[in-house]
Amino acid sequence: MATIITQIFIVILSLFLFNLRLSAAIDGRGYKPSDSILLNCGSSSDEADADGRKWIGDSSPKISAAGITFGNSTPSQAAFQDPSLPSSIPYMTAAVFQSEATYKFHVSKDERHLIRLHFYPASYNGLNAEDGFFGVTASGGLTLLHNFSAYITAQALTQGYIVREFSLPPAEEGFITLTFKPDAKHPAAFAFVNGIEVISMPEIFTDASTMVGFADSSLSVGSSALQTMYRLNVGGNYIAPSNDTGLSRTWYDDTPYITGAGVGVTAAAGPRVKIRYPPDIPSYIAPVDVYRTARQMGPDPKVNIQYNLSWSFQIDANFTYVVRLHFCEIQLSKVNQRVFDVFINNQTAQKDVDIIAMTSSMAVPVYKDYAIFISDGPNEDDDDDELLVELHPSVDAKPEYYDAILNGMEIFKLSDAGGNLAGPNPNPSEMLEDDLQTMREFKSEPRGKFNVIGGAAGGAAAAAGIVFALVLAVYQRKKRAIAGEPGSSGWLPLYGNSHTTESKSTISGKSCASSHLSTMAACLCRHFSIAEIKQATKNFEESLVIGVGGFGKVYKGNIDGGTTKVAIKRSNPDSQQGVHEFQTEIEMLSKLRHKHLVSLIGYCEEDNEMCLVYDYMAYGTLREHLYKTNKPALPWKQRLEISIGAARGLHYLHTGAKYTIIHRDVKTTNILLDEKWVAKVSDFGLSKTGPTMNQSHVSTVVKGSFGYLDPEYFRRQQLTDKSDVYSFGVVLFEILCARPALNPSLPKEQVSLADWALHNQRKGTLAEIIDPVIKGNIYSECLKKFAETAEKCVSDHGIDRPSMGDVLWNLEFALQLQESFENGGASARGSIGDVSELSAGGEAVDGGHRGQKRDEDDEANDQSDGVNDMAVFSQLVNPKGR
Ligand SMILES: *[C@@H]1O[C@H](CO)[C@@H](O)[C@H](O)[C@H]1NC(C)=O
Ligand SMILES: *[C@@H]1O[C@H](CO)[C@@H](O)[C@H](O)[C@H]1NC(C)=O
Ligand SMILES: *[C@@H]1O[C@H](CO)[C@@H](O)[C@H](O)[C@H]1NC(C)=O
Ligand SMILES: *[C@@H]1O[C@H](CO)[C@@H](O)[C@H](O)[C@H]1NC(C)=O
Ligand SMILES: *[C@@H]1O[C@H](CO)[C@@H](O)[C@H](O)[C@H]1NC(C)=O
Repeated sequence: MATIITQIFIVILSLFLFNLRLSAAIDGRGYKPSDSILLNCGSSSDEADADGRKWIGDSSPKISAAGITFGNSTPSQAAFQDPSLPSSIPYMTAAVFQSEATYKFHVSKDERHLIRLHFYPASYNGLNAEDGFFGVTASGGLTLLHNFSAYITAQALTQGYIVREFSLPPAEEGFITLTFKPDAKHPAAFAFVNGIEVISMPEIFTDASTMVGFADSSLSVGSSALQTMYRLNVGGNYIAPSNDTGLSRTWYDDTPYITGAGVGVTAAAGPRVKIRYPPDIPSYIAPVDVYRTARQMGPDPKVNIQYNLSWSFQIDANFTYVVRLHFCEIQLSKVNQRVFDVFINNQTAQKDVDIIAMTSSMAVPVYKDYAIFISDGPNEDDDDDELLVELHPSVDAKPEYYDAILNGMEIFKLSDAGGNLAGPNPNPSEMLEDDLQTMREFKSEPRGKFNVIGGAAGGAAAAAGIVFALVLAVYQRKKRAIAGEPGSSGWLPLYGNSHTTESKSTISGKSCASSHLSTMAACLCRHFSIAEIKQATKNFEESLVIGVGGFGKVYKGNIDGGTTKVAIKRSNPDSQQGVHEFQTEIEMLSKLRHKHLVSLIGYCEEDNEMCLVYDYMAYGTLREHLYKTNKPALPWKQRLEISIGAARGLHYLHTGAKYTIIHRDVKTTNILLDEKWVAKVSDFGLSKTGPTMNQSHVSTVVKGSFGYLDPEYFRRQQLTDKSDVYSFGVVLFEILCARPALNPSLPKEQVSLADWALHNQRKGTLAEIIDPVIKGNIYSECLKKFAETAEKCVSDHGIDRPSMGDVLWNLEFALQLQESFENGGASARGSIGDVSELSAGGEAVDGGHRGQKRDEDDEANDQSDGVNDMAVFSQLVNPKGR
């Protein structure tokens, strides 16, 4: 056990001395904190972070000039800047403590204070990051952290850094102390902190919370200390601290927490709807953006009644939690139109929530607090402790719509009777443990590995020869389909909305039963009559055809009285092959809901007609934005985001459902783009659903798409999820090089993109075959990561290919590299420095060059919610996430 020599150093920060009143960045309508201290620990200078917030160094001259004494803290610099760090301030410097040390802040007496502690577990002064074990206590006898390892926590959550937010009750003494103490039980333990925020906050817990399961009891937060566990902008986007209403909180997308049968649909208030805060809800409760956007269950009451809209959160057991739900009705205006029940951990939190009944009007925010004590789960394992929030339409209230809505959610942990808020360090999941292992290998891999792949490439070339031979055989057959693929003529502008007489009641005419479908599938998606389909497509008018596939034609259409744009896939009436695929697709899609999978809205099976109705994808296929097109070229970063989205969709197919689903036909025409350029994987007609896989050689061959087929599949006739990874690797090269996977008109060695790209990658000449339009804008390190990932995907043997999860991780890493470069952060990372031909000194050669159509692209870029695709490691504020 290490001897602890107590050395206390005190930093007294006086607001009056330093004039740290909040800068003009704060929204005038928000709250202006009287105390707002942003301390950049281990730094002697005062600098702004990437968000423009000003931090002062804890060893800055300002502080020492004011007569503040220092003990033995060691100001330290992190050895490496993780690309996922949002900003080098405050993360790249740390105050490191070998013994107990205290910060003291003079603050106003009558207010609560938000404390945010920022930790970036890196190597400081040669100390081993894994030895950082410590506790943090605060004045008033509070334990904020105990035996805390930022290293373990960050790893378990795949985050580069950790932010912990606490809310402390008013400090009667007029100061707050924070004491950092290395954990006595660990030899060589040290404590550290990168940044500390102390911000006064208004009392936001004025109303008592309803106790879940005890309708008549309530709990008052009173003078408890709290820890923010989750803060979500439900159905909306990430909100940065600088866009919060004065309290610099971060609001995250809720998607990662959705669980259960359905993800619902997101909705946003129309541009003319103005959110009006009532007198009892000040705007600092939550920003307008939280209330403007929401998640709802969906358009079909029959579906909604069948499932709960649910979110699941990992939490620490043996604490009381306050769950704050933010509501705002953004579509309906009458009482009893949308009424629903709220459940928390399988208990009724509130029955018959009717937002209009609470607010009397549309666009008026309201929130409700629910308190629940969560005891230890049945298993020893800490990680099974969850908090489950569920919404379900209230059947008893007989509302006009069976639907539910939620706009925002915050979850706070209350300190226990002993003043404790600390929980154990999280354990990484098994899957993550595997990923971490792969990642470590990936990172430490020697460059000489190319040789191995070189050997494999020969095999791939041989396989490509077979492909080529087969291509000729079926080329004729495919030609028609290819010619008709969504392209120049497709995705026409909106077609008439004059048919507006359809009422809600006709939406779901038929009962769930269908002769060919499982009951579940039939009930999960909406049934359309052939009349509705004909109306939607103007009786299958040719001008509305936006694509032709093996299955039949795809029409653009309008349903629900012209309010919803859809894509309708009609089975070719004389195609035999279609029936099975039709059913497969309904079965698959009705059970799979994911942001990066095309959503099936419903189907029609009548009069020998089979139609599938999907969400309309405004920007069509990925391929039509890559080559043989007159559309503006996509910028590199957007291509990266699209590939990440598609990887996410595939990763979900492989791991998210009960059993592994192999797509079998991954290609750029099966990756569609919605109106926000979000990539969605489509076409599950070929997916493997179970025992129906005993196809003969020929039929399996016919089913894949040439140029994308896994060579191992040829040899062994064995399809695995790694076959999708291979195809996805081809897609990645296609995105990079903007040419078809197979181009028979090219010289022999160039016909197969996979072979040709591998050949060039091996020779170090990949840069020569990159799409010239984007070449100048790719950061060399990003390109390297991207190309290495694609190269691994097309490895000859499935076993050498990464999992989709690894691919996803690496693409996100590539995006981070590109972003840090674009934000000018790359220069700080000189250590990477081995530069490809593309660049000199870590910079793209002609970063300033822009094609004349770039402006359009940028506009489109602005629409895309890139934030949702932020790297896994930077996604969550809270260490207990996921
Ligand atoms: C804040 O919001 C504005 C307007 O919505 C947006 O343009 C800006 O990018 C946001 N800032 C950050 C840091 O996200
Ligand atoms: C929760 O409290 C129970 C009873 O005091 C105890 O047995 C259990 O270990 C505690 N669990 C945790 C995770 O602290
Ligand atoms: C809720 O109920 C489901 C089904 O009975 C069960 O699997 C789950 O563990 C329960 N969750 C909680 C938090 O009690
Ligand atoms: C919704 O959740 C509640 C509480 O956990 C449960 O009783 C109910 O059966 C669920 N309903 C559906 C349709 O899953
Ligand atoms: C401290 O945390 C580590 C890592 O989570 C754990 O293995 C150890 O048991 C903890 N020690 C105590 C005393 O709780």
